[in-house]
Amino acid sequence: MNLVLMGPPGAGKGTQAKKLYADYRLPQISTGDILREAVAAGTLLGKKAKPLMEAGKLVPDELIIGIVEQRLQKADCLGGFVLDGFPRTIPQAEALDQALERASRRIDAAVSLEVPIELLIERQSGRRSCPSCGTIYHVVYSPPKQQGQCDKDGAPLVQREDDKPKSARARQEVYAKQTAPVKAYYEKRGLLRTIDGVGSPERIYSEIRLALGK
Ligand code: AP5
Repeated sequence: MNLVLMGPPGAGKGTQAKKLYADYRLPQISTGDILREAVAAGTLLGKKAKPLMEAGKLVPDELIIGIVEQRLQKADCLGGFVLDGFPRTIPQAEALDQALERASRRIDAAVSLEVPIELLIERQSGRRSCPSCGTIYHVVYSPPKQQGQCDKDGAPLVQREDDKPKSARARQEVYAKQTAPVKAYYEKRGLLRTIDGVGSPERIYSEIRLALGK
């Protein structure tokens, strides 16, 4: 199954993608994670992306499309994948379809998580993540056993720079303007599955599975 996981910042895409990986071994391709790794490694891509990400803006399509195309060609994606945070613009959605078509593949469903804005901001501001294993926590909704420390490897948890109030708001605006129209792109093709993203991660996950016919 080739899936697109959509939704505004803080909707729970990363949380749900990890559940899909745990159950179905569908690799999570998170363009946000790829970009954050490039920033941490100080690569050319990272240097270009850093100021845009911190301001809550999208990186240009031409920087991200090629990276996703190459990633999808890797062996672990041949049995299916979950795209988390891509496509975020109509040109990205079109480029994805073209790349998959060249390989006689296609997107099977685009799952969109819907969450009200106040809750999104609360989720963003309380998010903490482990810089070493990527586990996502929330200070209220899913706190670690030991405050500020990853349950899995003990690493000190960090807050993403773009989760701080100014860029968190900016990201919501960018989503509404540039990414929300991608839902109509998939709706026209009969692929959009809209899911209520409010409630426990487990309930949301079971709705996703139902919507996918699993
Ligand atoms: P990216 O990393 O993709 O960020 P995002 O889309 O803004 O999504 P988030 O990671 O903020 O949220 P999420 O939906 O994954 O929520 P999560 O599961 O963590 O992108 C970052 C930046 O990179 C972009 O701004 C842009 O600059 C750039 N970029 C990336 N892709 C790009 C592209 N394709 N084109 C151009 N630029 C690109 O959950 C959030 C919090 O809520 C967590 O604390 C979690 O524990 C909690 N939570 C989750 N579910 C629940 C629940 N059901 N109940 C209670 N709490 C919950």
